[in-house]
Amino acid sequence: MRTYLVIIALAVIASCQIPELPMPMIERTSFGTLPDGEEVDRFQLRNTAGVEASIITYGATLTALTVPDRDGFMEDIVLGHDTLSGYLEANPYFGSIVGRYANRIAGGSFTLDGETHTLARNNGPNHLHGGVRGFDKVNWEVGEVIEDTNQVGLTLNYVSADGEEGYPGTLTVRVTYLLTEDNRLIVDYEAITDKATPVNLTQHAYFNLAGGGSIMGHHLTLAASHYTPVDSTLIPTGEILPVEGTVFDFLGGKRIGDQIDHDDPQLLYGGGYDHNFVLNRVSRDLMLAATVLEPESGRILEVHTTKPGIQFYTGNFLDGSITGKKEVRYGRRTGFCLETQYYPDSPNQTNFPSAILRPGKVYQTQTVFVFRTQE
Ligand code: GLA
Repeated sequence: MRTYLVIIALAVIASCQIPELPMPMIERTSFGTLPDGEEVDRFQLRNTAGVEASIITYGATLTALTVPDRDGFMEDIVLGHDTLSGYLEANPYFGSIVGRYANRIAGGSFTLDGETHTLARNNGPNHLHGGVRGFDKVNWEVGEVIEDTNQVGLTLNYVSADGEEGYPGTLTVRVTYLLTEDNRLIVDYEAITDKATPVNLTQHAYFNLAGGGSIMGHHLTLAASHYTPVDSTLIPTGEILPVEGTVFDFLGGKRIGDQIDHDDPQLLYGGGYDHNFVLNRVSRDLMLAATVLEPESGRILEVHTTKPGIQFYTGNFLDGSITGKKEVRYGRRTGFCLETQYYPDSPNQTNFPSAILRPGKVYQTQTVFVFRTQE
């Protein structure tokens, strides 16, 4: 009996002495049910600094991202909905993974290896963001749940059938989200195919580093000396033009609102910025593509990527008709997107980097969002 008591006493003392190390955590809950009865789950990733990222299986969507300002006050910095019905009813790709081909394909058609493929024209005369039911509108399957001491996350899988939305080949896609202890949200994309097909996967988060209101005061720097101008339907003309001396010059950084209402015809087409910037690449490695500072809160977002381009979109089509999280009506230019990508319409543009994935090859790209604050 005495021995037992001694053992118990020692165990109690030992347990008191081992300091409990804070660990990042991941929690899975239900986010609702789709009309066909399928369950949508939400994963809340949280690091020990309190940064939190929520991801739902529907659209592999990032629904919330809470980060500190310079005084440590936390704010959700992405637009979205509180409920699944919000995402089903009115969703201009808030936080979704977009595919099979992000952005536009002219006239909803492209020719590959001599065969012409017809896609949905779901944006005026063009195909946009994978079609009527793109990857943002499917319920992804949960793969692995990752819980390490320095990062938490999950993999989401989707198999896009041969012919789905008009695209050739069965495409097996895996997206991995990881939230690290050093405040990075890593998005890894992988895909394989059994027939040649264009693939362009992106994360379509709408950011507002102030947590709400206009984004015009955010300060943006883009590592892009060139951009791809568009026609009136937002299809690239095929030219790759220098940004120097134009409203597209963000090389040295400027407020988003500084020149957005200039009468440059390029800005009139999309009602603001909605353009692909050609990143100044020196290698295929991860590079810093964009830095955004919101001066009031001091929040800084960096976007690093392995992709060749980035779509800078200033939420011009938001018009107050969508009510999102916390009953907030999302007005024009209250969120901006920095969608890392292959250039829009590249399947029809021979001088753009090719986004064609062939059997036996692996599509592998990475985008990293870094959160920090200005002192
Ligand atoms: C992308 C496009 C925009 C718009 C948004 C979604 O950023 O380039 O033109 O379609 O997605 O509303």
